[in-house]
Amino acid sequence: MQCDNSSTEGQKFQVRKLDISDKSKGFIELLQQLTVCDSVSDKEFKDRFQELSSLGDDHVVCVIEDSQSGKIIATGSVFIEKKFIRNCGKVGHIEDVVVDSNARGKQLGKKIIAFLSDHARSMGCYKVILDCSSENKTFYEKCGFKQKEIQMVMYFT
Ligand SMILES: CC(C)(COP(=O)(O)OP(=O)(O)OC[C@H]1O[C@@H](n2cnc3c(N)ncnc32)[C@H](O)[C@@H]1OP(=O)(O)O)[C@@H](O)C(=O)NCCC(=O)NCCS
Repeated sequence: MQCDNSSTEGQKFQVRKLDISDKSKGFIELLQQLTVCDSVSDKEFKDRFQELSSLGDDHVVCVIEDSQSGKIIATGSVFIEKKFIRNCGKVGHIEDVVVDSNARGKQLGKKIIAFLSDHARSMGCYKVILDCSSENKTFYEKCGFKQKEIQMVMYFT
């Protein structure tokens, strides 16, 4: 039986899909470390959770829960875009990746990206893409991504 530190850490920080109970474990507060994310009522959370669940494997939100504190300390999501090009190919889009500021530098971000990329691959995507700030470029390179082209955006609100 293995009981070294690395396997203990591995068990402590497992990636799993978002659960409806995660709202009470600090999931929204974690997202607030990423960007503007006003408080979400229980009903709003439940409605959005069910909407996303109905998309099944086409939209996955994953989390890492710290088994000691019971808090959600990392998250990310991927959705699968179905195209006509590339023989009706599929593309995975990674979004909303964040690790709690107290838990950064422990390879949790890498774990989240590996989980989301593996999911996109298993869904038959020919590639997985994401947008990031220049400060995070090295992080994503270490996760196996490379820079390509530029991002354009038009905000409506
Ligand atoms: C970016 C973020 C997700 C990284 O998570 P993390 O758990 O701290 O990263 P990891 O520990 O998995 O780092 C993996 C590797 O990338 C490196 N790395 C992580 N962040 C980095 C950065 N900003 N610049 C350079 N290298 C970085 C680590 O040193 C590590 O290198 P190693 O494998 O050689 O040891 C985290 O800092 C974060 O949540 N930031 C705020 C929100 C954010 O910007 N999200 C991304 C939106 S696109």
